[in-house]
Amino acid sequence: MSIILEFVNVNAGYGRIQILNDLSFAVDEGQVYGVIGPNGSGKTTMFNALLGLIKPSSGKILFDGIDITRTSANVRCKMGLGRTFQVPKPFENMSLYENVLVAAVHGGTHRERFAREIALSSLRLTGLYDKREIKAGELALLDRKRLEIARALGTEPKLLLLDEVAAGLTDAEVKDIMRLVADLKAAGHSIVWIEHIIETMVGSTDKLMCMAEGRCVISGNPREVMESAEVQRLYLGVDENE
Ligand SMILES: Nc1ncnc2c1ncn2[C@@H]1O[C@H](COP(=O)(O)OP(=O)(O)OP(=O)(O)O)[C@@H](O)[C@H]1O
Ligand SMILES: [Mg+2]
Repeated sequence: MSIILEFVNVNAGYGRIQILNDLSFAVDEGQVYGVIGPNGSGKTTMFNALLGLIKPSSGKILFDGIDITRTSANVRCKMGLGRTFQVPKPFENMSLYENVLVAAVHGGTHRERFAREIALSSLRLTGLYDKREIKAGELALLDRKRLEIARALGTEPKLLLLDEVAAGLTDAEVKDIMRLVADLKAAGHSIVWIEHIIETMVGSTDKLMCMAEGRCVISGNPREVMESAEVQRLYLGVDENE
């Protein structure tokens, strides 16, 4: 199996505030790679560094075998990095189809004719096809999350980055998102998925990483990671000595 993404000792932050500390991890192609960690541990910042929104002060980011550490955000998007935002921000007055089309035209590598087909297939894959003429502002939360994913798919990503797409949903809705992620994997997508909901991460990911203070604390088999002393202590606030 080939590695689609690798962080090698990445240090990065905002201005002078360093957030990522020697962050290293690797994601296998075709897999769902989960990322957990306490609030503020640097998960979204890792996506920002990956997408080129902040520049590492040292370290390397390799995507599909290419060093992208100094590549612009725009080029990275065209190379196949597609992301969802932690807080969905669709164009409220535009239809779902138009929302995904904008992503396909601006983020994808194909011209408009193909962009239409890509937008429609993204809507199909996310279960939004029948609602494609509805305005985004009229959607309930679950469908807004689906639309976030459809917009990311519109850019034809080689690697899909999901930032808390299940947050705020009911248990039944979280199961819908888990099914959708399984469908995306079955369709051949490689996925990095940040989420706080533990059962979801254990049930849906091939590998799991726990971050704390901008570092990788542990990564590996999801259940083993969750049961590790490091995660019990750091993430769940359980002290080994209690
Ligand atoms: N634009 C910014 N400028 C300065 N500091 C920031 C900025 N964005 C985030 N931070 C800080 O960086 C740290 C890591 O934030 P980040 O959003 O990466 O955490 P997270 O792991 O995604 O947390 P959460 O689980 O709450 O989403 C936090 O201390 C946060 O306050
Ligand atoms: Mg975050």
